Amino acid sequence: ATTLGAAAAGSNRYFGTAVASGRLGDSTYSTILDREFNMITPENEMKWDTVEPSRGSFNFGPGDSIVNHANAHGQRMRGHTLVWHNQLPGWVSSIGDANTLRSVMNNHITQEMSHYKGKIYAWDVVNEAFADNGTGQHRSSVFQNVLGNGFIEEAFRTARGVDPAAKLCYNDYSIEDWSSAKTQGVYNMVKDFKARGVPIDCVGFQSHFGSGGAPASFRTTLSNFAALGVDVQLTELDIAQASSGAYANAVQACLDTARCTGVTVWGIRDSDSWRTGENALLFDNNGNKKAAYTSVLNAL
Ligand code: XIL
Repeated sequence: ATTLGAAAAGSNRYFGTAVASGRLGDSTYSTILDREFNMITPENEMKWDTVEPSRGSFNFGPGDSIVNHANAHGQRMRGHTLVWHNQLPGWVSSIGDANTLRSVMNNHITQEMSHYKGKIYAWDVVNEAFADNGTGQHRSSVFQNVLGNGFIEEAFRTARGVDPAAKLCYNDYSIEDWSSAKTQGVYNMVKDFKARGVPIDCVGFQSHFGSGGAPASFRTTLSNFAALGVDVQLTELDIAQASSGAYANAVQACLDTARCTGVTVWGIRDSDSWRTGENALLFDNNGNKKAAYTSVLNAL
């Protein structure tokens, strides 16, 4: 195969990218997007601050523009994200009453998933709920602080009721190293959800790596999660300085895991990346393929 998407399809996987709706009119960008990628994650357009900036007032225009593009070009969509402590409007983070927040969270999930019902392969139902402090516990957030530990389970149960055909994922960063407390915390949550029948189908490993790339234990982590009975994906891959070896190695970790269904990079050209100046993606500022692109294509 001569493109990332076609090469990944050869093993029944996808190769995706984050897309910013404002760049779709840039023909260099959209030409690469439609040639190389068969899965799209909206970079910001399905986040709470865009979708429900004030209570009960929904804005699906930016997300719709990406979904329409995907439909016109045969690309599938990952919904990102329903419940997250960042890019969360102040009207949500200032709610102090549990009954109010529970109904606001469930309504947000219901309205957004209903709007996109049938159009989303997988939803990041909850994003980044675990702490970085070495405890393996949830991080502080309005959801955690007002609703308690059960907010994640509640979000997944609500989501399953709205679009039963969509895969429901938990997504996080720095959970790639098997030895980290954060990884263990997420693993224990998924194990508990599976044991109790809480609906969860997949775990997204964001995979925002430094120049050394993935930790040595990444394959172990992916296969241990998969053994719990969930699909796994690399959902936001980018690597500082994008060495060929580091990129090929990260993608190979997915290929080595039967239940790893695909890889998504977090942007197309280096100039599209949220990591300004880190040269972390597969295409240079002019849209030319970098060495890391070739190494990934050859690995797939
Ligand atoms: C980032 C976007 O790339 C930026 O444009 C935005 O300003 C901040 O969010 N983890 C996630 C993504 O789950 O949604 C984040 O995306 C990067 C980290």
